[in-house]
Amino acid sequence: YNGDIMALRCPIVSVLGHVDHGKTSLLDRIRTTRVTTREAGGITQHIGASEIPIGTIKKVSKDLLNIFKADLSIPGILVIDTPGHEAFTSLRKRGGALADIAILVVDINEGFKPQTIEAINILKQCKTPFVVAANKLDKISGWNSINGPFITNFNEQKQHPNALTEFEIKLYENVIAPLNELGFEADVFSRVKDTTKTINVIPVSAMTGEGIPDLLIIIAGLAQKFLEQKLGLNVEGYAKGTVLEIKEEKGLGKTIDAIIYDGIAKAGDYIVIGNPDGVITSKVKALLKPKALDEMMDPRDKFKPSKQIVAATGVKISAPDLDMVIAGSPLRIVSKSEIESAKEEIVQEI
Ligand code: GTP
Ligand code: NA
Ligand code: MG
Repeated sequence: YNGDIMALRCPIVSVLGHVDHGKTSLLDRIRTTRVTTREAGGITQHIGASEIPIGTIKKVSKDLLNIFKADLSIPGILVIDTPGHEAFTSLRKRGGALADIAILVVDINEGFKPQTIEAINILKQCKTPFVVAANKLDKISGWNSINGPFITNFNEQKQHPNALTEFEIKLYENVIAPLNELGFEADVFSRVKDTTKTINVIPVSAMTGEGIPDLLIIIAGLAQKFLEQKLGLNVEGYAKGTVLEIKEEKGLGKTIDAIIYDGIAKAGDYIVIGNPDGVITSKVKALLKPKALDEMMDPRDKFKPSKQIVAATGVKISAPDLDMVIAGSPLRIVSKSEIESAKEEIVQEI
């Protein structure tokens, strides 16, 4: 809270793209944990959410803060990973719909694939702005990839003219031209003059860490800009969210993993959830939070009860009578006196 009329909430950033183009690895690089190695067959099967505090972003991107003159007042970003496998369209749609801004991950060597195009169509439908992370830059032959900013390393490649040529060709043929064909102007972020007209392409390598500072600073800056334009989102009213998953937890029974995109929830509040058979109401037993920078869906997480949570955030909700709840449903967390108006609101969303 900076004392302004409206404190900016944490923007929701969804990561979308074709299977194996490196979404989880990229997020993993940012989080510095090792989620990719824990996934069955290396395929993401559910949506996870990670909170990246603004302090982490500023630390990682410290060399670029002056260049981009980024005055960041958001508290951080909430990043939602989605699976690229073709079977998981509904999860991608949920991720796309929740997002304030998205990162479309494209393997710069492979280019556009069916789920890349599907992801763009979801983002178009939801009117979600996005940037493109052109990943696996390290696989460009002769490219000397480093753990650091792309813009400085790019200049170093002048000693490797063949690598530079291959980079420009792959960037154009595999990323920019396909975007142009779909009606988008796009260019490498350092050449973009008007970010409202041109899609920022950020070349990255999840393997070496190249371009991660650039990606973080661009996404935080753009997310903040778009949030400032969005009206009606605040961190003062009751909590609004979406059910991601219903999970059985040892000692807790059925719990809900949710993303709260607006407002505040307090322990002891009531939860109101949309359902095709009517609205479900229950009393919150606990609002549970994983530690920052942890993978929310990891079963090894130690959940900590919170007195209060503020959007945007991922939260595990423990409450009785959740048997009929289904993933994707809208939810509210409200005080007793607000239950009836929340029910009326929820009915509009089912
Ligand atoms: P799904 O969740 O299944 O859609 O895949 P994903 O997009 O999350 O890709 P994931 O992070 O699982 O990476 C797929 C494979 O690509 C793994 O073997 C990674 O090690 C590899 N990979 C990811 N990023 C890079 C990169 O920047 N460079 C190289 N060389 N390999 C990468
Ligand atoms: Na994968
Ligand atoms: Mg993945």
